[in-house]
Amino acid sequence: MPDQPTAPTAWPQVPRWLTLSQSLKKARDPVGNLNKVLAAYGDTVNLYLGGVKPSVVTRDPALMQHILQKNHRRYHKSDLTHGLLRYLGKGLLTNEGADWLRQRRLIQPGFHRQKLTGLTRLMRAAADEWVAELAAQNAGQNGSVELDAHAAMTRVAFRIVAQSVFGDALSDAELTQLSDWLTAIQWFYVTTIRQPYLRPLHWLRGSYGQHDALARQLRELVRQGIARHRAAAAALPPGAAPPDDLLQMLLDARYEDTGEPMAEDQLVDELNILLVAGHETSANALTWAFYLLARHPEVQEKLVAEVERELPGGQPPEFPDLPRVPYALHVVQEAMRLYPPAWIIDRVATEDDEFQGQFIAKGSVFSLYVYGLHHHAGLWPDAEVFRPERFAVEAQPPLPTYGYLPFGGGPRLCVGSHFALTELQLVLIQTLRRYRVLPTAATPPGLNPLITLRPNGELRLRFERRA
Ligand code: HEM
Repeated sequence: MPDQPTAPTAWPQVPRWLTLSQSLKKARDPVGNLNKVLAAYGDTVNLYLGGVKPSVVTRDPALMQHILQKNHRRYHKSDLTHGLLRYLGKGLLTNEGADWLRQRRLIQPGFHRQKLTGLTRLMRAAADEWVAELAAQNAGQNGSVELDAHAAMTRVAFRIVAQSVFGDALSDAELTQLSDWLTAIQWFYVTTIRQPYLRPLHWLRGSYGQHDALARQLRELVRQGIARHRAAAAALPPGAAPPDDLLQMLLDARYEDTGEPMAEDQLVDELNILLVAGHETSANALTWAFYLLARHPEVQEKLVAEVERELPGGQPPEFPDLPRVPYALHVVQEAMRLYPPAWIIDRVATEDDEFQGQFIAKGSVFSLYVYGLHHHAGLWPDAEVFRPERFAVEAQPPLPTYGYLPFGGGPRLCVGSHFALTELQLVLIQTLRRYRVLPTAATPPGLNPLITLRPNGELRLRFERRA
């Protein structure tokens, strides 16, 4: 049957039968699938995601800039992001419009440089804890241990974000519980998106109700964390400095217009979102960075040499030290180019719009294909090569405009981008100065692009103690 001209925009239409047949055949490789389609039809196409959902998929930097920055007022997140509201509530990531802006203004100062200086110590402690775990695991094993780097980095990243948020208001067991509930909710949510045809089955089995119940338990635990934090701050002796964590900042913050603090329900929503947004993304970035370093020992040694030169004798890095070891940053940046944790960004047009003479109807759904943008051969010389040096300040050619968007762009740029870059560098530095990372027979892994770009299954790497 000929395809109906259903596209609300004039970009090429990929026939529905093609995406449907490809999605059935290649459901395991959506990234490889999208790359092939874009190579055949152009940088921006209309297609049916998974053969079902009409969407404009683009890797055109100018169109991404149009949507995220220049004309951002005409675009909101799509149902993909808003679906999280049910479980996590209305925090920065899921909120829109004037309400979002008010919250963003209140929260953003918590991520300024000065705040990060305090949080750096906490991040470094979490990194050191992971290195100590490595040492404990490889005792008696010739100084070398093989493990699933993704599972390990998920624990490290969660510890960093949860402790940065709550300080020590929640115990280790409670943090693990929080992480388990969040993981269960995210997995379930992703399944309902990835396999929409299973929704009736989930409904019949009561899975929606079960995950609603988990979300309620999650909120209850977050509330307990807030209550304990408040009580601990109230019990401080006069003149003692309050804790330096993100929750304290949110408790102290006041809206510009009313001078009021954030309502408790809103605070719970924001904390839920910070935990989710700041956890899996960082874990994936770290995992892929270690994977690339394992395959590029020369990059690893260059990084360690720079660290030893600038921070001799194992000197612990503080926030102001990081600019002296720029190569660690470039490694992180290049890892996120090749493996962007937020591999796709969703938007929907809230009114009619136009881009370079193309009409865009209200309701058009966009998938900004960040993975495709970062691998675009027309934007990146040797696009598939891991070369951190391309991020050096003096590098030629300069980075392509709107060609690198690991943290998104425009007003909704990731609020935790500096937080994330700091933690990623610290974990790499603290690990690599004590351990060499090596590939194993089990690597390389495939890609598992869910909400974030994860490895498909375990990503096993070997960590070998340096002399
Ligand atoms: C490598 C790590 C990270 C990556 C790759 C990443 C990526 C992103 C991206 C692409 C967006 C924009 C989404 C969109 O426009 O639809 C975003 C938003 C956001 N991120 Fe991150 N993120 C990371 C770490 C963090 C951390 C550590 C936190 C908090 C502690 C965080 C909190 C948020 C929040 C709250 C938003 C929503 C901001 C808003 O809409 O105002 N992220 N992130």
